[in-house]
Amino acid sequence: MNAKQKYLFDLNGYLHLKSVLAETELCSAQEAIDRLLEMPSDKLPPGIVRGSGNGDTSFSNGFSADKSLESLTWHPSTRPIISELTGGKPRFGRGSLVVNQHHNQRITSLHCAREGQGWQTRRYAVKDGHIHCNDFICFFYFTDVNPGDGGIVVLPGSHKSEFERPKIFPHPQSLTEPDGIFFQNLEDLNHPLHPALVNVTPQAGDVVILSELTVHGVLIWKPTNRDRRFLILRYKTQYFSDDRGRKHPFPEEVWERLSPETQELSETVSYGHTKSIISPDLGQ
Ligand SMILES: [Fe+2]
Repeated sequence: MNAKQKYLFDLNGYLHLKSVLAETELCSAQEAIDRLLEMPSDKLPPGIVRGSGNGDTSFSNGFSADKSLESLTWHPSTRPIISELTGGKPRFGRGSLVVNQHHNQRITSLHCAREGQGWQTRRYAVKDGHIHCNDFICFFYFTDVNPGDGGIVVLPGSHKSEFERPKIFPHPQSLTEPDGIFFQNLEDLNHPLHPALVNVTPQAGDVVILSELTVHGVLIWKPTNRDRRFLILRYKTQYFSDDRGRKHPFPEEVWERLSPETQELSETVSYGHTKSIISPDLGQ
């Protein structure tokens, strides 16, 4: 993780890395996603489940559909950042593929890990020049998001907030409430974005890294002729397990086809252990 990345992640609570995928990596991943979309649900690789309940098409464990996608879990562009944020003790915990389409009118309102149950377990701190962040997401993008399209919005700097965000209820009256700070009517396609919020607009081949403590939400996808395709890869520290004592978080049929490197990255192990995938040049 270089000095610029460290500065921006600490300042904003997220990072937008541009053009991190090589042309061949991007093409292979895009083709794998096309193949997955064409497959009937009962012919998907074992352990991958197609969901379409909210209008999007999503694939749980979609990262394991093809090696071009699985390899993104420990990609040279994100590896030093994942290592830095976890103090060299990373664990990959979940990887879904999402195809976000216009006809999904479901919105994801603003939220963050501080506001849910288990807030005590999420940490962001800086010590001795190193950032510690024990719950974050790497989003790999396979299609372009342009300004005005919709997609993810973030409240920069909110990962360090010492106060809970005032509760806002998504009804029209909230717009005039004095505590409507940072309120965003995500349901209204034409509601202007609150000036404190940033709509992140990654291009195909970009990565967005987001602390779960950073307030974020999703705007309705406006284009009717294009969709938004991305992989959600979730990371925690290796000793932060929410898998009820299991060694790894995946169904056995998924686990069996993962490479040894991905398996090790996904294992829950003790604080004192150093995984063999961790390079000694941590933080570079
Ligand atoms: Fe979220």
